[in-house]
Amino acid sequence: MSIIEAKQLVHEYIRRDEEGNVESIQTALDHVDLHVEPGQFIAILGHNGSGKSTLAKHINALLMPNEGTLYVDGKDTKDEKNIWDVRQTAGMVFQNPDNQIIASVVEEDVGFGPENIGVPTEEIWQRVEKSLRSVGMWEYRAHSPNKLSGGQKQRVAIAGVMAMQPKCIVLDEPTAMLDPCGRKEVLRAVHELNRKCGVTIILITHYMEEVVDADQIFVMDEGHIVMQGTPKKIFSDVEQLKKYRLDVPQITLLAYELKKEGLPIPDGILTREELVKILEQQVK
Ligand SMILES: Nc1ncnc2c1ncn2[C@@H]1O[C@H](COP(=O)(O)OP(=O)(O)OP(=O)(O)O)[C@@H](O)[C@H]1O
Ligand SMILES: [Mg+2]
Repeated sequence: MSIIEAKQLVHEYIRRDEEGNVESIQTALDHVDLHVEPGQFIAILGHNGSGKSTLAKHINALLMPNEGTLYVDGKDTKDEKNIWDVRQTAGMVFQNPDNQIIASVVEEDVGFGPENIGVPTEEIWQRVEKSLRSVGMWEYRAHSPNKLSGGQKQRVAIAGVMAMQPKCIVLDEPTAMLDPCGRKEVLRAVHELNRKCGVTIILITHYMEEVVDADQIFVMDEGHIVMQGTPKKIFSDVEQLKKYRLDVPQITLLAYELKKEGLPIPDGILTREELVKILEQQVK
């Protein structure tokens, strides 16, 4: 069974004036179909305003479909009695780590979620340890979050979500406010959770380099999913990506330009090693 299944999902933001008359309707999701298997690492790309955050909020039942259906682990998000289960299944991580950290000591911050839902004290500490270890922040358990770097704070925020034992984590541009080093730390932690703990990951990002290891990429544009496939497939179509105002990883672009100049290079090169290997073969 799929963990996330969107069927013809529609979301409209309706703006009303003081009398309640509709002023404008913005269709942010326009009949979106999405299918994610448990344990997959999914990336969602798309230009500003394409509907990525709106989709993320639906997966966490923060928004309700205007039309269509969204199932999270088989539970219809429209059904009010499922909201708790849906939020338990799919944890959310947002852009700004400062808005997600509440306690003044790292381990208390991570324990806050489970404590809030009445997990027994001993189990809370087990979960805190496991979560902090899984993002490589266990040594910082007694630190104040304020003194941590952006990447470290974001990893603490992710540990806080992990402590709730979700099957799936949706990260909405978790690295947008981080320096390159912090971005790498967070990405590594997220991949570990996926590989070692089997957590399904849905990563929304503007950084192409962060998605080359994903199982599947979905590209959104104006509320539609316009491309879908493995990174190799997606980055084989440089022209299409440009049409949707997206960048291409630098190496992919270099390979594409070389091919255009007449070198026999396949489409969809994602890593420096791949390109070097192909160029070496041609020199021989
Ligand atoms: N609360 C809101 N009220 C009205 N319109 C909204 C609201 N939130 C988003 N929108 C509109 O819905 C569309 C999709 O927005 P969304 O935030 O989902 O895009 P996004 O892909 O996450 O963009 P970004 O890359 O900038 O984060 C946009 O046109 C946006 O202006
Ligand atoms: Mg967004």
